[in-house]
Amino acid sequence: MGKVIAVANQKGGVGKTTSSINLAASLAATEHPTLLIDIDPQANCTSGIGIDPRTTSSSTYEVLIGDVPFEDAILSTDLPFLDVVPSHINLVGAEIEMIDVLERERILKNALLRTRRKYDFIVIDCPPSLGLLTLNSLTAANSVLIPVQAEYFALEGLGQLLNTIKIVRQHLNPELEIEGVLLTMFDTRLRLSNQVANEVRRYFGDKVFRTIVQRNVRLSEAPSFGKPVLLYDATSMGARNYIGLAREILHNNQRFLQRPEEVQEEVSADTNGFGARYSEASTPANGFTL
Ligand SMILES: Nc1ncnc2c1ncn2[C@@H]1O[C@H](COP(=O)(O)OP(=O)(O)OP(=O)(O)O)[C@@H](O)[C@H]1O
Ligand SMILES: [Mg+2]
Repeated sequence: MGKVIAVANQKGGVGKTTSSINLAASLAATEHPTLLIDIDPQANCTSGIGIDPRTTSSSTYEVLIGDVPFEDAILSTDLPFLDVVPSHINLVGAEIEMIDVLERERILKNALLRTRRKYDFIVIDCPPSLGLLTLNSLTAANSVLIPVQAEYFALEGLGQLLNTIKIVRQHLNPELEIEGVLLTMFDTRLRLSNQVANEVRRYFGDKVFRTIVQRNVRLSEAPSFGKPVLLYDATSMGARNYIGLAREILHNNQRFLQRPEEVQEEVSADTNGFGARYSEASTPANGFTL
């Protein structure tokens, strides 16, 4: 039963896609079957993992509008333990097309039900908005990973995101946790980066990952070669940072990973089929409440 982690922040360019690709690749490198889902019409995640979004016949778009079953949209990648569900520019129109659908915020969650069993982790790359696509991701997820760029105005807009998480908990997904806040594009030469890190820590406390992703040119080059940084330059700082993040997430989810059978039993005993107690088993030790 996979742990679903939505990578979300409605602010653009903070490192959502870079973190989704490289976290998923690093988890897969530790031989944990991992699925990467691109739910952003920009399809940066899709091309960044080496798939041309113009040539895919089944994508998150077809899944969300109900044209193809989720399993049919899964593609394999160059990494043995990593699969991907690509995006397509058509996804731009999906929010409108889904408007009349009953329970439109739960489409992805329902689509994932059967597939979740095949993976240890499912990482969803969200678009830079708090619209229906992000809502679907937060509803399907066990937790949300929030990348925050170590820059001026880092915390700007995070109130809105936290408020959305609160609303999702109240109405759609009471079990949604904060997996952690990830500082990205950290520049060790700048005092500003340290000031921002301190401010983010003051605000989020122990919910901030110990791992910090430094600004690293290899991370920005890798997508143009359609590769996670691990396959592009495994010794780079960027590769090391995301391996560190994967280790931290594995550590925080030990209880969930060590007891899959027990979790499975709890889930099958759950009549909703979604396993209310499942996320209890996967809750990180440092539980964060808003
Ligand atoms: N640690 C890093 N070091 C250097 N460049 C980075 C790093 N992280 C991300 N970038 C670059 O910054 C840009 C924005 O990153 P990314 O696409 O991951 O952000 P995003 O939040 O997914 O953006 P969007 O909101 O448009 O989806 C990209 O060009 C990416 O290559
Ligand atoms: Mg992106």
